[in-house]
Amino acid sequence: MAERILVTSALPYANGAIHLGHVVEYVQTDIYVRFLRSCGQDVVYFCADDTHGTPIELNAAKQGIPPEQFVARFHDEHQRDFQDLDVRFDYFHSTNSPENRQYAELIYGRLKDAGDIDRRDIEQTYCEKDKRFLPDRFIRGTCPNCKSADQYGDACEKCGKTYNPTDLIDARCALCGTPPVRRNSVHLFFKLSRHEAFLQEVLKRPGFLHPGLATQLQGFFEKGLADWDISRDGPYFGFAIPGETDKFFYVWLDAPIGYIATTEKWAKETGKQKDALAYWDKDAPTRIIHFIGKDIVYFHALFWPAVLKVAGFHVPNEIKVHGHLTVNGEKMSKSRGTMVAARDYLDLLDPSYLRYFYAANLGAGVEDLDLNLKDFRLRVNGELVNNVGNLANRALSMLAGPLEKKLAPGREAGPGRTLVEQALARVPEVREAFEKLEYRAAIKIITDIASTANAFLQTQAPWALVKKDAEAARADLSDAADVAYLLGALLAPVIPRVSERLFAQLNAPALTFQALATAKYPLLDRSRPLGTPEPLLPRLEEERVNAIIKNPVADIPPPGSGGKDKKSEKKPMDAKSPEAQAAAPTPQASPGAGAGTVEPVPAADIEYADFAKVVLKAGRIVAAEKVKGADKLLKLEVDLGEGSPRTIVSGIAEAYTAEALAGRRVVVVANLKPRKLKGIESRGMLLTAGPGGKDLSLLEPGDVPPGSEIK
Ligand code: 2FM
Ligand code: ZN
Repeated sequence: MAERILVTSALPYANGAIHLGHVVEYVQTDIYVRFLRSCGQDVVYFCADDTHGTPIELNAAKQGIPPEQFVARFHDEHQRDFQDLDVRFDYFHSTNSPENRQYAELIYGRLKDAGDIDRRDIEQTYCEKDKRFLPDRFIRGTCPNCKSADQYGDACEKCGKTYNPTDLIDARCALCGTPPVRRNSVHLFFKLSRHEAFLQEVLKRPGFLHPGLATQLQGFFEKGLADWDISRDGPYFGFAIPGETDKFFYVWLDAPIGYIATTEKWAKETGKQKDALAYWDKDAPTRIIHFIGKDIVYFHALFWPAVLKVAGFHVPNEIKVHGHLTVNGEKMSKSRGTMVAARDYLDLLDPSYLRYFYAANLGAGVEDLDLNLKDFRLRVNGELVNNVGNLANRALSMLAGPLEKKLAPGREAGPGRTLVEQALARVPEVREAFEKLEYRAAIKIITDIASTANAFLQTQAPWALVKKDAEAARADLSDAADVAYLLGALLAPVIPRVSERLFAQLNAPALTFQALATAKYPLLDRSRPLGTPEPLLPRLEEERVNAIIKNPVADIPPPGSGGKDKKSEKKPMDAKSPEAQAAAPTPQASPGAGAGTVEPVPAADIEYADFAKVVLKAGRIVAAEKVKGADKLLKLEVDLGEGSPRTIVSGIAEAYTAEALAGRRVVVVANLKPRKLKGIESRGMLLTAGPGGKDLSLLEPGDVPPGSEIK
């Protein structure tokens, strides 16, 4: 029987918006699934909301609603986000579901029957006022090591030391500030320590885990694997443990079981399989692949395989781990506005840009991926819009215009045929790169193919040839259209909606990796007329890109806050729980960006190194006045964090009055040689967007100190 593949992405907490950091994983997985499908593989892709645990319970309580209602809201919101990001699950379920309860109880029962559950009386931190045991993150106090105040109960953010909450000096309940007490309670433990030999064997299985990560996990074995506490005392939002009073499964026990529950729900709803066991039975002929972030390797590579083995389920075959997202070179931060909700991005930009950029930067390793906004714009415009898009548009618009949408038959020989055949010869490399999750290598080959085809058009110059020999021009353009068709197929896993558009413009069926395995020149059915060409994707406008980072929370702490601005962004809950972002205001799309203006002729491409010479800085206007005898100019004094402000003369007087400008934040080209304007020496230039005159907007750097470099 052919192998069936089941792929999952980690389950997002139903506790906040999906942000661009999460999106790295969903896009990485979705590309892989689409690629496998294009190769003709039988693959299903599942995900669900992770709904249980203390943070969700408390956030629901804060909003005065039952946790079921709280998580339901995120379920709808998350599904809409995934839909609009072109991430297509076969099913998106919830861990708070009857299927998940059923499998959690079944698996727990099997662990118990196998003698793998131990009862232990443990001492824990308890708040008598709130009448609850306190997870480590709900305890604050002074670090016993470096004496920094206001640290969590598990680790110090200042010195990095990990410790027990009992070690904290002057510990307090993070909910009510009361000093907690110690209290005993019986907890249930999964005897992970009994499965060391099995887990060591799993870690050595080829393809199970990146070898570097498998080596890192050896540290746990050296210390001796600790048994795993799988119960929590009430109040707790989760499934009650059968046979116990006021005890619940710890969220991390039932979360991965959500992968099975989702399979069950999908099987029952679609009728495509009898139940989840078609994939999850230990002998099922399936390949199970989990995509996760590097912070949750421990759960997926140690607990989860051991639990599945003991319970008689299929152990995952592969765990694909990625790094985290940084934005403009720094950890995402709410105060800098860089923790961008997917919805805020989607309100401004097509998801294809982000999917392309992530793919262009993703490899198989666990290094972090940086969303540098300038790099994002330049790469997308340079590679996707100007290279791939331009090839398709040049070829198709000439064929559709002067050549009446008719293609030429394939040729016996010549540079056009060679072009297509050489491009086809590179398909196995692209395929291998996708297979190995080396997406950036795949993108490199794809853009090379596009560049070669553009160079071919440049040499053949069909726009000139068409006047002398229309059929020769038609033949060259048809070969270029063949390459565009191929690029549509190769990019389909990454930017599916753009490929669909391209296939429609070519009036050709979707081309798959499976078909490409045996495809020959010519790729297009040359007897069919073309569809109607249109630009595939507009260029990314700087203002629009920059607008995805908006409304940063002031870094300057409000009076009386004690200056703990960094801490204040942390809520007493899982650091990753993006609860606070849910409240982030929705951005306004920059109105009419580019609308009604004539699209400028794109300037010639420049080297990256030339561009990198430009130093952009954030400035603050401290004074502004009119320049005598020049209606359009204002003389500005701009603080660039250099001690004394710089004088800059700027042609914005029709758009802004001098009075309106004091205090305004601006983006300044800071390394221009001084020049004289109306006799005043101007040292720098302000960046603006818009056609000019009254219709100019100053670009805003966001709430960063004057002198901050903009990269
Ligand atoms: O770390 C997280 O965001 C978890 N919600 C991931 C759970 S993945 C799986 F185990 F359910
Ligand atoms: Zn308390």
